Amino acid sequence: MSNVTCEGKIISVIGSGLIGRSWAMVFLSGGYRVKIYDNQQGQAARAADEIRKQLEELQEAHMLRGELSAAEQFALLSSHDDLPQALEGTFFVQECVFEDLEAKRSLFQAVEGHVGESVILSSSTSCLLPSSIFSRVQNRTRCMVSHPVNPPYYVRLVELVPHPETLPMVMDSTYALMTRVGQAPARLRKEVDGFALNRVQYAIIAESWRLVKDGVISVQDIDLVMTEGLGMRYAFIGPMETMHLNAPEGLGDYLRRYREGMRRVLSSFGPVPEFSGQEADAITKEMCELIPNDQQHLSARRERRDQLLMGLAKLKK
Ligand SMILES: NC(=O)c1ccc[n+]([C@@H]2O[C@H](COP(=O)([O-])OP(=O)(O)OC[C@H]3O[C@@H](n4cnc5c(N)ncnc54)[C@H](O)[C@@H]3O)[C@@H](O)[C@H]2O)c1
Ligand SMILES: *[C@@H]1O[C@H](CO)[C@@H](O)[C@H](O)[C@H]1NC(C)=O
Repeated sequence: MSNVTCEGKIISVIGSGLIGRSWAMVFLSGGYRVKIYDNQQGQAARAADEIRKQLEELQEAHMLRGELSAAEQFALLSSHDDLPQALEGTFFVQECVFEDLEAKRSLFQAVEGHVGESVILSSSTSCLLPSSIFSRVQNRTRCMVSHPVNPPYYVRLVELVPHPETLPMVMDSTYALMTRVGQAPARLRKEVDGFALNRVQYAIIAESWRLVKDGVISVQDIDLVMTEGLGMRYAFIGPMETMHLNAPEGLGDYLRRYREGMRRVLSSFGPVPEFSGQEADAITKEMCELIPNDQQHLSARRERRDQLLMGLAKLKK
């Protein structure tokens, strides 16, 4: 990774919550100057403080990304309470405000008034469609979604989702930027509700839920099916390559052998679960017996999750 390509270039991060802070750290690690903004007075400054602490902790743990030291990365960051100031000189805007359609629409409308035509407008939205978020932007050819996965510092995937009018050049530039800062971009060719990650995630959740609800398996054991079974592969080999490797002569062979069985099992899947009422109460109770839902237990498990993801990120590198 060379800093020559990004020397002095500025990225604006709009919204300084959980995801805004993470994006700022990812871009700093790539040597970019980052301006972070929040519309709550003082919030961006508090976020910068938090980022400084996290960079130091990461350095201490030898987990800091990029070639610059924590101090060098922090020196590239500035915090702003003023939107025009936060957008001055920027070439790329990453929006991370509340997941609220109206908030995002009016924000992008305001942003467009302060930046040149060549500036890329990118949203972190988890489940709003580009065609609705950017409806009030005049030039939508430079608009797209870059959907991260939490926590982006360790889970590198970013889904790049175009607006129907987005120029291929804009997708290409964002792809190159994400690669340069060490993320792993996946390109969607068109927008679809849930993008790719959540569509697959919801399919897994739905079938896991049905199996527990129908009394086939316990909450604990369906999670084990993922963590000790499918998940062991999936950190390295996706479902397509899994099929390709699991038959002597590759994917075509796999289909000849397993097509019918797959179709039979898939045809037996139930309807979309309600995720409410009695079934939800019962499953929630079972979960809480394993991990009580008080802050102490949940925080401990979240910390464990982040530690494990950190270790896995190290292993994958
Ligand atoms: N948290 C996740 O796991 C996750 C994962 C992927 C994507 N996302 C998406 O990222 C976005 C941000 O999520 P988050 O978890 O960081 O939320 P958050 O609540 O932690 O942070 C939102 C921040 O935006 C600020 N804000 C709100 N309206 C604003 C405005 N008009 N201008 C400037 N700042 C404004 C708030 O003050 C707050 O600091 C959402 O669209 C969410 O769907 C979240
Ligand atoms: C719209 O944005 C694109 C991409 O940045 C740019 O190439 C084009 O010139 C802009 N269109 C207008 C009308 O300014």
